[in-house]
Amino acid sequence: MKESSVDLYFFSGTGNTLLAARAVAEGLRAGGKSVRLLRLEKGISAPKGDTALGVAVTTACFSTYPFVWEALEQLPSGEGRSAFAISTMGGYSGGLRSPLRKLLDKKGYRTLGYAEFVMPSNYANKSIPQEANRGKIQKCEAKAREFALALLEDRATWRSGGPFSPFFNWMARKKAPWRMMKRSFPLEIDKSRCIQCGKCARLCPAKNIVMEEYPRFLDHCVVCQRCIAFCPPAAIGVHGKKYEQYRAVEYDTLVSDKL
Ligand SMILES: Cc1cc2nc3c(=O)[nH]c(=O)nc-3n(C[C@H](O)[C@H](O)[C@H](O)COP(=O)(O)O)c2cc1C
Repeated sequence: MKESSVDLYFFSGTGNTLLAARAVAEGLRAGGKSVRLLRLEKGISAPKGDTALGVAVTTACFSTYPFVWEALEQLPSGEGRSAFAISTMGGYSGGLRSPLRKLLDKKGYRTLGYAEFVMPSNYANKSIPQEANRGKIQKCEAKAREFALALLEDRATWRSGGPFSPFFNWMARKKAPWRMMKRSFPLEIDKSRCIQCGKCARLCPAKNIVMEEYPRFLDHCVVCQRCIAFCPPAAIGVHGKKYEQYRAVEYDTLVSDKL
């Protein structure tokens, strides 16, 4: 990577991608790069001067969340700057790798490399397999540091997403799969537990929660799990289902300016 600094934009629902992005940033910093970790949900702007672009996103519906694509589509021209990307996933990200590269190529970035890391499942966990999850996180962080080294040494690669990649990406850009997810996971608030702190409304990247006396859910949830994960008394859940709350980091880390 020729640039001396990196703007690494990330979105993370429950902290998995944040941990991966932080490990990549640590690896790049160890190699002498200056790295800013920036929240993609706050908007994205083209890196300036001698700065490369990094993108770190959650795999969702074999692709990523519609608001992430919308933000990336707003990116101005890269003017030949380097770009790389990572994602975290449960196991399969068919519609992400190739479309992301295509978008960045089209915007004039020099696409250096892409890596994806298996992380713990962040939804519908009836119980959390703590030890197995710790193992996945450690493996991901080690692989993320290796990826940073590959970027520094200009040997990172961006493999194609395979023959079904365009189909999965096309599907994830439609409203139907998200509608189906929303219907499968209808959010519900337990008013007897809610402490009316409003964290859920502040954290929702889709602006789907309005804080009235209690949180009220609108109709454009992307099922990122953040409100469920970071509700202090675990008062948000899915109607009729009993899941254990999962998060990879604590609230203070999720919102910290020092990453
Ligand atoms: C709505 C939703 C859809 C998901 N879809 C996929 C998927 O298609 N493939 C996959 O491998 N993992 C999928 N996952 C699992 C997440 O990608 C994985 O747990 C990820 O590490 C979560 O990262 P985050 O905490 O940074 O948001 C999905 C998770 C959610 C909440």
